[in-house]
Amino acid sequence: MSNIDERLLEIRQDFPVLNRLVYGKPLVYLDNAATTQKPKCVISAISDYYLNYNSNIHRGVHRLSQEATDEYEKSRKIIKEFINANNTNEIIFTRGTTEGINLVAHSFVRPRLSKGDEILITYMEHHSNIVPWQIVCEETGAKLVVAPINDAGELIFEEFEKLLTERVKFVSVVYVSNSLGTINPIEEIIKKAHSKGIPVLIDAAQSIQHMKIDVRRLDCDFLAFSGHKIYGPTGIGVLYGKDEHLDKMRPYQGGGDMIKSVSFVRTIYNDLPYKFEAGTPNIEGAIGLGKAIEYVNQIGFDFIIEHENQLLEYAQEKLSEIDGLKIIGTASRKASVVSFVLENVHPHDVGTMLDVDGVAVRTGHHCTEPIMRRFGVPATTRASFAFYNTKQEIDILANSIQKVIKMFS
Ligand code: ALA
Repeated sequence: MSNIDERLLEIRQDFPVLNRLVYGKPLVYLDNAATTQKPKCVISAISDYYLNYNSNIHRGVHRLSQEATDEYEKSRKIIKEFINANNTNEIIFTRGTTEGINLVAHSFVRPRLSKGDEILITYMEHHSNIVPWQIVCEETGAKLVVAPINDAGELIFEEFEKLLTERVKFVSVVYVSNSLGTINPIEEIIKKAHSKGIPVLIDAAQSIQHMKIDVRRLDCDFLAFSGHKIYGPTGIGVLYGKDEHLDKMRPYQGGGDMIKSVSFVRTIYNDLPYKFEAGTPNIEGAIGLGKAIEYVNQIGFDFIIEHENQLLEYAQEKLSEIDGLKIIGTASRKASVVSFVLENVHPHDVGTMLDVDGVAVRTGHHCTEPIMRRFGVPATTRASFAFYNTKQEIDILANSIQKVIKMFS
């Protein structure tokens, strides 16, 4: 047994759900880009909160409230260190990537837009990095401009550069495409935009779990991600923003906790980061996310990157050998995502048949309809891998696909 195999056996014990059966077959969970499974330490942290110190934060002088506040703020600190932000004021808890992008669209970008201005995105954005910009464009008369991709699913950088005119007021780009797996040249994109004084948001929903992200090294203005993609709970996410921007922005929502004082005449907003956290937040979610990140730190990105790259390579090799299977998204730099179509079989049928073998994949347009149109397919089947997946699971996937092909031929 190799070192990786031994380590994997241990790691898989941390994820109880990986031991379950589906229709009497061992679960092969390959839908990690949709959501990752949760390690025991995350599940325990959430139940510990409810069993032992459930209470509201920043509000009570009582012991339980202090403990909950301490744990919530401890998570903020863990996240700050994880992405190397300057300080915890730059870490805003949100519901997820979608809310982070909407917050920036409405509080930072919208007030700066006039008719004729432009927002630049790419062709491989998730709907959550398209629709918020369409909404602010509709409201202001600004225009959404889309940088094209090539047949491999890579951004055509020269075209992106050409579109980066003086009309562009904001750039919002996905780091890793959820449906193709493409890793974008994010450093170059940020440098290019900054050389023209244009701020940049990075959608890190599909990258935060696969690679070390250092917001100060990247020098991005904003970065948004979701907790559930990085082994944490659903309904919690993070928006990182440079404090110089966050400081000047108006709150996105009004309510409790985001104020210093309220009268009917005038309200004074709270300091960062609370100005952007109106209402009782997802306390157990934030605590669970902190634990998830500690867990990822303990696994380490050296292992994650090496193993996930091996899985990607192995899966692409195995799937390419299958007659009638076409991989959609063949960029030279990819995260561990393989989207594919089978001749004459609809992806939903593929997904349904794989499920009978215990193999969980996502089928559909993956909230990226424009990409599906770009590749001339209505949908794909997508297998996405996490560091707890194994090559044996990829063999099961490949065999199951062969069965589907036989069945439909
Ligand atoms: N955006 C998630 C996915 O790609 C849900 O599946």
